[in-house]
Amino acid sequence: MPSSSPASPSSCVITQRIRLDKFLANYTPYSRAEVKRLLKQNRVTIDNTTTKDGSIKLLPLENTVTLDNDVVNTVGPLYIALHKPQNVECSATPSHHSSVYDLIHNPDNPEKLAPFLIEKLRIAGRLDADTTGLVLLTNDGQWNHKITSPHKNCTKQYEVTLEKIITPEMIKILESPMQLHNESKPTQPAKVDVISSNVIHLFINEGKYHQVKRMIAAVDNKVIGLHRLAIGKITLNKNASCQHQAQPNTGHDLQLGHWRFLTPQEIQSI
Ligand code: URA
Repeated sequence: MPSSSPASPSSCVITQRIRLDKFLANYTPYSRAEVKRLLKQNRVTIDNTTTKDGSIKLLPLENTVTLDNDVVNTVGPLYIALHKPQNVECSATPSHHSSVYDLIHNPDNPEKLAPFLIEKLRIAGRLDADTTGLVLLTNDGQWNHKITSPHKNCTKQYEVTLEKIITPEMIKILESPMQLHNESKPTQPAKVDVISSNVIHLFINEGKYHQVKRMIAAVDNKVIGLHRLAIGKITLNKNASCQHQAQPNTGHDLQLGHWRFLTPQEIQSI
């Protein structure tokens, strides 16, 4: 088993107690079910004492855990920003194209991450295959929830290229609650910034299925290009992440298809 994991700028020291079985599932390639088996087989020790009890709570900074005599190292939770190209699916089991996980595995990327850590990453807000832009991935479920829950008011900024010219009437409707087909509740009011006659920046807090495309269709227009510029204050450009809105690309954005670790400031901004 890998006894050490790559350190990363987004590594966080874990100061809280964590169950042994959860700890092993997070920081080894094994699933929770496999961890149970490893414990039964007496392959795990805490501070030199063999244990079968997965419910023991340990302090990763103070206790030493071994699996098959190798120390299990932690890198803490992982937070990643990726610049998704078109024709890449936000799914671990893509049906028509390659997956964002293939991009993270890509050895050409300047950043590297062990495969078993990549498998534990979850996408915090999917994009359609034909949408480009910012995708965040993490193994921190609570942080993911803060982004995706409609109750947490995490704003996503999209650059939307429209088939027809945007009108004041369309903006008024988009900025009001909209009842989309097959939804139990209306959308939260969006905010629209007009960039040109057929390009807008749309700010929404939710992530309903095909939300932007459906909102635009509901005002009798059509999305012909969609790009996510920002999630909260995080953008493709790590130097710009503390601004309230994504700025025009100044050449510092992540290259298309590349990914990077988030900075501590970006992680805390959510
Ligand atoms: N809304 C959409 O319609 N598609 C996306 O990919 C993201 C938001």
